[in-house]
Amino acid sequence: MRILTGVQPSGKLHLGNFFSVIRKLKEYQTTTDLFCFVADLHSLTTFSSKEKQKDNTYNAVCDFLALGIDPDRCTFWLQSGVPEVAELTWYLSQFISVNQLELAHSYKDKIAKGFHPRGGLFFYPVLMAADILGFDSDKVPVGKDQKQHLEYARDIAAAFNREVGSVFKIPEPEIDEATALVPGTDGQKMSKSYGNTINFFDSEKELKKSVMSIMTDSAGVDEAKDPDKSHIYSIHSLFLDDAKKQKLRERFLTPGNGYGDLKKNLLQNILDYFAPYRAEREKIAADPTYVRDALKKGRDKARQTISSVLDRVRNELGIYRF
Ligand code: ADP
Ligand code: TRP
Repeated sequence: MRILTGVQPSGKLHLGNFFSVIRKLKEYQTTTDLFCFVADLHSLTTFSSKEKQKDNTYNAVCDFLALGIDPDRCTFWLQSGVPEVAELTWYLSQFISVNQLELAHSYKDKIAKGFHPRGGLFFYPVLMAADILGFDSDKVPVGKDQKQHLEYARDIAAAFNREVGSVFKIPEPEIDEATALVPGTDGQKMSKSYGNTINFFDSEKELKKSVMSIMTDSAGVDEAKDPDKSHIYSIHSLFLDDAKKQKLRERFLTPGNGYGDLKKNLLQNILDYFAPYRAEREKIAADPTYVRDALKKGRDKARQTISSVLDRVRNELGIYRF
């Protein structure tokens, strides 16, 4: 069973990213054949400067290594280090219509907001299909917002298999319903683009600021609070097992606990939970040689894997290799 996932290096990781996908990767690398990469080609769709592109990419790689991605146990690479994925993107683009691509949420949303999207954004789902199909992936863990992209990959694979030859595995999305939509500090989906994130690698001071900004109603200290309507509760419960969730519910329901204290409690939990990862991240970020070697190992294996898939594709398409 091969599990594959990618994350764009487009800024700091937040609790939504962690609980929907990243948390599971450590377990997958011990129980399955995990392929995981940093999607730096996709992030060019929001390019602002080469310095930022480089910083974000290095930071994302360090984040994953610190969060437990072990280059000896899984195939971990940088998307741009495997140029074969661009060749496969071109082949795959012959198996999807423009009409279908025009329906992509990521593309449609930009148009609705009055932007003039570029070709890269239009082609984003095809590059993502190449990421997935090029490595014979069985399962792809993603957040709910990526579901449509998975459907594109499945449609393209099916069209290729039907029209030219049976080459691709049809991948399955894996979406954990319990954490499919982690709410942000304002209760909307936690997302960089809404400015409502809690970034667990931020400094303690920044983390405190984010947690303290979680929106609440105006219930006073002496009033009972409804945990099911509180963003503090929904975020805090991500960290807790059933027994601890029950205890936290009781704290909400018992007058005498103010929102300030409930937030401080959450902050402490976040700091404790991520303390080992934060320490590891500092060590890794200061060791570029380790980072480079880790990526090189994964890149070599990823290139080998996609090359054998590409051989099958070229063969079915009648592309000569002299
Ligand atoms: P953002 O919305 O902050 O830009 P990304 O698009 O970089 O996040 O998401 C990376 C991964 O994390 C994707 O698989 C995405 O579906 C998942 N993800 C992001 N935010 C959330 C959230 N609030 N709840 C659940 N999953 C999320
Ligand atoms: N589009 C994904 C995101 O924004 C990142 C990604 C690129 C990806 N290629 C992928 C995820 C392949 C899973 C599989 O989160």
